[in-house]
Amino acid sequence: MRVFVTGHLGYIGVHLVALLKEAGHHVTGCDVGLFTGCEWEEFVRPDVELIRDIRDLDVADLDGSDCVMHLAAISNDPMGDLDEEITLSVNRAGSIDLARLAKTAGVPRFLFSGSCSVYGKGDKLDLDEGDPLHPLTAYARSKIDTEAEVAKLADENFAPAFLRNATAYGHSPMLRIDIVANNLLACALATGKIGIMSDGSPWRPLVHCVDIARAFIAFMDAPPDRIRNVAVNIGDNQENFQVKDVADEVKRVLPDADITYTGEVGNDPRSYRVRFDYLNRLLPDFKLAYSLRSGTEELHRQMTDHGFDLADFEGDQFVRLRTLSRRLHLIKGDRR
Ligand SMILES: NC(=O)c1ccc[n+]([C@@H]2O[C@H](COP(=O)([O-])OP(=O)(O)OC[C@H]3O[C@@H](n4cnc5c(N)ncnc54)[C@H](O)[C@@H]3O)[C@@H](O)[C@H]2O)c1
Repeated sequence: MRVFVTGHLGYIGVHLVALLKEAGHHVTGCDVGLFTGCEWEEFVRPDVELIRDIRDLDVADLDGSDCVMHLAAISNDPMGDLDEEITLSVNRAGSIDLARLAKTAGVPRFLFSGSCSVYGKGDKLDLDEGDPLHPLTAYARSKIDTEAEVAKLADENFAPAFLRNATAYGHSPMLRIDIVANNLLACALATGKIGIMSDGSPWRPLVHCVDIARAFIAFMDAPPDRIRNVAVNIGDNQENFQVKDVADEVKRVLPDADITYTGEVGNDPRSYRVRFDYLNRLLPDFKLAYSLRSGTEELHRQMTDHGFDLADFEGDQFVRLRTLSRRLHLIKGDRR
C-alpha cells in the first residue's frame, strides 16, 4: 500500500514509519521538523520525505495514496496553552483541511490521531466512547472538533477513523520525557527522586508508543466498512493507572529512588480512566505488545545505555514545550 504519514518525525511517527516499511509498504512522510536536532537515535526514513507544513499540502501531494495517517500536531496540553491559536490552526483547521484534500484526491482511508484527553474530567471514572466529552484544554478541543467535522466527510468512498489514543509512554528514537511515565523515570534516573507534581491520585490510561503505531496499521488493514467513521479508544482496560502507581513501577526498576510530591499542580483536574472494550470488539486480533511494566523496563535499559543524566533531564532535547517555544516561528500564521 502507499501510505501518507504526517508527523513522521515525531515520537510516535518514527515507530510508525519503521513498522510500515518493515511490512513492505511505500511510505511518504510529511513533517515540518519542529523537533529536528532532538533525535536520540538513528531511525528509519520514509521512501519520500516532505519537510513541509501540513497546511501547505495540495491534492497532488496526496494523489495515489491508499491511506493517510495523520499524526502531525501541536501535541499536548501545555503546548496548546503556549499558543492556543496555533494549536487550533494546526490541529483543527489543518486537520480538517487535510481530510478534505485526502477526500478530493480520492484517498479511501483517513486515520486521525486523536486522544483520550477529550474525556477530560469525567462524571464517572470508567469512560467509553459513548460518554460525554469534557475537553479541558485547547488541545483536547482541537481533537474533538476535528472528529466532528471530518466525520461529516465520510461516505462509501471515504472512510475516516478516529483513534483516541491513551497517553503514550516508552522508548522511541525521538524520545520525549514530557509525558507522565517517561517523565517520572527520567526524573528518577537524573535526580534520584521520582517527583510527582500532583497528589498522585489522577488516573491516566497509558499505552506504549509502539502500540499506537501498531493500532494505526491494524486500522489500515481492517475492512473499510468495519472502521468507517468510528471513534475508538486505543489502549487496554488493564493499563489505567493512578500517577502514584506509575511511580511505583519506576521504583521497581530504580529501588533507591525516593517518591516525592511537589504539589505544583495541586489536585490535577485531568483525571480519567478509560475502557477499551470497543477496540476489542472491533479488532479482536489486536492486542497490545507492551504493558507499563515491560515498557518501563525497556526504557530504563535504553536510558541507562545512553547514560541519561541531569543535563538531559533539564535540557531542551526531550521536552517538546521547551523546543517549541523557540521554534514557533516555523508554524506561525494561518495558511489558508
Ligand atoms: N504522545 C502522546 O501521549 C499522545 C497521546 C494521544 C495522542 N497523541 C497524538 O499523536 C500524534 C503524534 O504525537 P507525538 O507524541 O508523536 O507528537 P510529537 O510532538 O513527537 O510529533 C508531532 C510531529 O508533528 C510535527 N508537526 C507539528 N505541526 C506540524 C505542521 N503544521 N505541519 C507538519 N508537521 C507538523 C512536528 O514537527 C512533530 O514531528 C499527535 O497528533 C498527538 O496529538 C499523542
